[in-house]
Amino acid sequence: MLTKLLKISCTSRQCTFAKPYQAIPGPRGPFGMGNLYNYLPGIGSYSWQKLHQAGQDKYKRYGAIVREVIVPGQDIVWLYDPKDIATLLNERDCPQRRSHLALAQYRKNRPEIYKTTGLLPTNGPEWWRLRAQLQKELSAPKSVRNFVCQVDGVTKEFLRFLQESREGNAIDMLPKLTRLNLELTCLLTFGVRLQSFCPKEQDSDSRSTRLMHAAETTNSCILPTDQGLQLWRFLDTPNFRKLSQAQSYMEGVALELLEENIKNGSEGTSLISTYLKNPELDRSDVVGTAADLLLAGIDTTSYASAFLLYHVARNPEVQQKLYQEARKVLPNSKEQLSMDALRTDITYTRAVLKESLRLNPIAVGVGRILNQDAVFSGYFVPKGTTVVTQNMVACRLEQHFHDPLRFQPDRWLQHRSALNPYLVLPFGHGMRACIARRLAEQNMHILLLRLLREFELIWSGSDGELDVKTLLINKPDAPVLIELRSRKE
Ligand code: HEM
Repeated sequence: MLTKLLKISCTSRQCTFAKPYQAIPGPRGPFGMGNLYNYLPGIGSYSWQKLHQAGQDKYKRYGAIVREVIVPGQDIVWLYDPKDIATLLNERDCPQRRSHLALAQYRKNRPEIYKTTGLLPTNGPEWWRLRAQLQKELSAPKSVRNFVCQVDGVTKEFLRFLQESREGNAIDMLPKLTRLNLELTCLLTFGVRLQSFCPKEQDSDSRSTRLMHAAETTNSCILPTDQGLQLWRFLDTPNFRKLSQAQSYMEGVALELLEENIKNGSEGTSLISTYLKNPELDRSDVVGTAADLLLAGIDTTSYASAFLLYHVARNPEVQQKLYQEARKVLPNSKEQLSMDALRTDITYTRAVLKESLRLNPIAVGVGRILNQDAVFSGYFVPKGTTVVTQNMVACRLEQHFHDPLRFQPDRWLQHRSALNPYLVLPFGHGMRACIARRLAEQNMHILLLRLLREFELIWSGSDGELDVKTLLINKPDAPVLIELRSRKE
């Protein structure tokens, strides 16, 4: 057996004996030609739109580490064990991701607009140059708290919009939540209101409706262009064309809103106003960042909020506790939500969001390109390999969580220290984690408190579990139908 072991020398990790990379179990496809065929509609048993199911199947067949050959020369190593996930995400150098490749190509083709390919696809020192300049305003707790007042104001308007748009008993919440997050993203990024709740903005050719579609179209083209043969590098493939058209629209709106921001005077508190004043960033950095925030800010928070409301609506006892907390921080619902209350008094609300993101993260896991050789579950994995964690599958396993499929926010209040910190990572981890994590969490806390303060939520969708459709990020695969019943004081 010893001959099967390979001694590797690791620069930063403990030197260890490891089994060879080739020996990692997993699908290779017929004659080693790759498993891409298995994702083809009508032929294979996997689907890019059901990545969580493919992930579960691979875990059952091969175990806690899987090497999948997509096409020869393009492997993905999947990790399910939190010890391996911790090893991966605690890399010391600039963490690299392999994603949004076609978006990077689109931006490279337009040097008159973009200096870099932006925060999402760029790796290495250029990524860090941008990230270091952008993160203070987006990530620091104090900067994020400064947005509470604006977000609370828009959320109150959103509740009125929901009330007015109740057609029958139940509302399909996802399209409404997308409008909320579009409105918030534009307000916080550009200091501009789109007024996307007003009736004329509901038209299919309005700016807000087209922006919502463009963001979703771009997201849905990322996985099919990142994986497989990447014919778009040589041909104008339908997915590349769709992505380019959607990006062209979003870029046009980003430039328009940037101009509006400059015209209104750059004294406001918007992110773009601050970035425009930063001497380390030039105009094209700011345009690229604006396009990134529009792309990353809308669907992420909308899908996560839709799953959150789904779980809450199905659990009346959870709602009751949330209502008590909402009454404490908002004794009078007409008043402004205070920054201090959000910081200290919403322990249960935080636990509810955490539990929803455990069961329904918007990404199956976190991806990295290895910066150096590594050992996972006793196997050697060389530098340069694409490695992706399978947190969604791992978070639904009995060995990690008691009664794992049950929505139980109390687990985050009672036994938190016993839970492995590398399992629930909806915003990624480390230097490359979501730059807007605190902002997104704050927005969802405010939504939950305001909504529960006013309404009882009654689940009106199908009886079974709401499943997931992967469009790069996990979207509910059916309408999120909820009836809102006004509460009597
Ligand atoms: C519930 C809401 C959200 C979730 C669950 C989420 C999740 C994530 C995840 C998993 C990553 C990759 C992290 C990693 O590789 O370690 C990421 C990156 C990113 N997110 Fe978010 N996100 C959310 C909302 C937002 C919002 C509202 C914005 C902007 C307004 C945003 C902007 C970004 C950007 C720019 C990156 C790339 C960061 C980098 O590579 O340096 N996200 N997000």
